Amino acid sequence: MQVLETPEELRQWQLAQHGAGRRIAVVPTMGALHDGHLQLTDLGRQHADVVLVTIFVNPLQFGPNEDFGRYPRQFPTDCALCEVRGVDAVYHPEPAAMYPAGFQTHVEVEQVAQRWCGASRPGHFRGVATVVLKLLNQTAADVAVFGEKDWQQLQVIRQMCRDLDHPAQVVGAPIVREADGLAMSSRNVYLSVQSRQQCLVISRGLQQLQQQVQASQRSVAELQAQLTAAIDAAGGQTEYVALVQAETLEPLADFSVAGRALVAARFGATRLIDNWALPVREVAT
Ligand code: PAJ
Repeated sequence: MQVLETPEELRQWQLAQHGAGRRIAVVPTMGALHDGHLQLTDLGRQHADVVLVTIFVNPLQFGPNEDFGRYPRQFPTDCALCEVRGVDAVYHPEPAAMYPAGFQTHVEVEQVAQRWCGASRPGHFRGVATVVLKLLNQTAADVAVFGEKDWQQLQVIRQMCRDLDHPAQVVGAPIVREADGLAMSSRNVYLSVQSRQQCLVISRGLQQLQQQVQASQRSVAELQAQLTAAIDAAGGQTEYVALVQAETLEPLADFSVAGRALVAARFGATRLIDNWALPVREVAT
């Protein structure tokens, strides 16, 4: 496995791959890799000939009071995990190589980035879109794989690639969960023993909510209120519970179209997000 540290090294590797007629799948990450990330690399391999993982904790997508400084960093372990998984190359640039002095261009995706995490984390998706476009350009990605765990991020990236004509095929990957249902996340290491138990209300509540779309006649507002109350009763602080149209992320009026339930909540100091696909409600005739 090759470890590429600079944009120049990356470019040589990319030219060699494309020169040999190999399609490149890129998996952008911030490191502290877990099985959720590694499954993205497996999916990348199904869609391309070589897989490149980028590991870069992107300062641009963290707010001033967020966890940029203490975000888990474990580069040697991440490299070992990638190597065992059969990844072909890891790209690990320095912040100064990504954002040299004088950097002044950003990518702003509009409507789909404005609600939910966009509202509670101002500037977050601007930072994500900017770094992802840079990474897709630098790597000349043929395929780019992202997890459905960050559902809104996936829609923002799809929109950006469409609007700005990036040719990469954007592939979404299902959420990978712990045995008890918690969605895997690099931030789960922050959870106290108590919060780790309490936060299961999110995945269990989402699953129940999804079942109730069919099994009950409860409205969008009722199901949202029910999950919000359950999270708060379990000791969490709900940031939002939103039942939305799956691609535009506009609020659902009813269950006549495919939806997605999105949740962001804090347990202690840890902010968690999760989401679940919602079926169309069958109307009795
Ligand atoms: P990061 O949080 O490291 O996640 C990297 C990729 O792994 C994202 O596409 C994310 O959705 C996916 N992922 C994380 N946990 C997952 C899980 N449990 N199941 C499936 N996929 C999962 O998301 C980012 O980094 C950054 O915003 C990035 C896109 C790299 C831009 O900096």
